[in-house]
Amino acid sequence: MPPSEDAVLEALRHVHDPELHEDLVSLGMIKNVEFAGEKLFLGIELTTPACPLKDQIEGDVRAALTPLGVSDLEIQWSARVAPARGPDAERAPGIRNVIAVASGKGGVGKSTVAVNLAAALVQEGASVGLMDVDIYGPSAPLMTGTVGQKPAIVEGRIQPVEAHGMAVLSMGYLVPEGQAVVWRGPLLHKAITQFFEDVDWGERDYVVVDMPPGTGDVQLSLTQIFPLTGAVMVTTPQPVALADVIKGANMFDRVNVPMLGVIENMSYFVCPCCGERAEIFAHGGGRTTAAEHGWPFLGEIPIDPTVRIGGDEGTPVVISHPESPVALSFRQAARTLAGKVSQIGRRGAISA
Ligand SMILES: Nc1ncnc2c1ncn2[C@@H]1O[C@H](COP(=O)(O)OP(=O)(O)OP(=O)(O)O)[C@@H](O)[C@H]1O
Ligand SMILES: [Mg+2]
Repeated sequence: MPPSEDAVLEALRHVHDPELHEDLVSLGMIKNVEFAGEKLFLGIELTTPACPLKDQIEGDVRAALTPLGVSDLEIQWSARVAPARGPDAERAPGIRNVIAVASGKGGVGKSTVAVNLAAALVQEGASVGLMDVDIYGPSAPLMTGTVGQKPAIVEGRIQPVEAHGMAVLSMGYLVPEGQAVVWRGPLLHKAITQFFEDVDWGERDYVVVDMPPGTGDVQLSLTQIFPLTGAVMVTTPQPVALADVIKGANMFDRVNVPMLGVIENMSYFVCPCCGERAEIFAHGGGRTTAAEHGWPFLGEIPIDPTVRIGGDEGTPVVISHPESPVALSFRQAARTLAGKVSQIGRRGAISA
């Protein structure tokens, strides 16, 4: 005789989601308990398709059900990303989470990180948008292979460009190429408002926003226009970049945008000839700075020529070389990030 549904649920009350620190039943993650003979089909709904702890949850569920005599278990996974946003989100009701990818210093790889995180979230099964609000130096068209495309206008609303499974919008599509945009605060504010209000984003689990460097008008406008889920700060390992991370994080902190974590880009270089690892800009400062401030650390991305080539040719490295070490580091960072977003969605706060 298989155990009763109640007995199964009781056992699952002792399995905790390692990130949300609550049991699977209380979290409403158990969607289905069904026996076919001795075989149990268990439906589990994760808080993100990019769940970094799925294997751990599966192991814990199996361990909890073994004492009940359940040996034949098939888990049917699904995911629903909760929105983590405030009351004025009606500007773009289909967007569940907006993640700003920012840095204190220019040229540290924000756009590269934003595009690869977005593509990695698509690979995990999420519905993703990429919003490039770097009005002065838009990168998304080049990095997604969509230079020269024009977003369609349907019934007066802008349709994002589709690339690599994500919806992309960049000022680069709207302003003639090479024409430097010299806009001041109010115009910038209006343009970014339109990026939310006048664009058909559809349903998006995550919209990743590629920011211009620093802590200027665009950053502040964005936080005023839409309730951001949080910010990811990209840095390189040098002390000068790290000092700017703290400045950037302080800016977000002042406007109550949570820090989702730090990514150390160009963290080290593995010589393709001898395999030796060289720490060109030093290494590990991102992790240390994050730990000192209680921010999550999302990962280290090595310097790898395929990253730059992917950016220049319009196919993010997580798509062109999905199993390469650098792609795996992006993909792991995306999963860790998705876990932090889930924490905010559920608990309103994160633990580092
Ligand atoms: N991990 C990496 N390995 C190799 N090249 C990289 C890596 N990360 C970024 N790059 C390259 O470094 C250059 C700068 O990156 P990117 O444009 O992403 O920086 P950014 O912070 O967005 O710059 P800006 O501040 O101008 O917006 C690009 O040519 C990119 O391809
Ligand atoms: Mg950039």
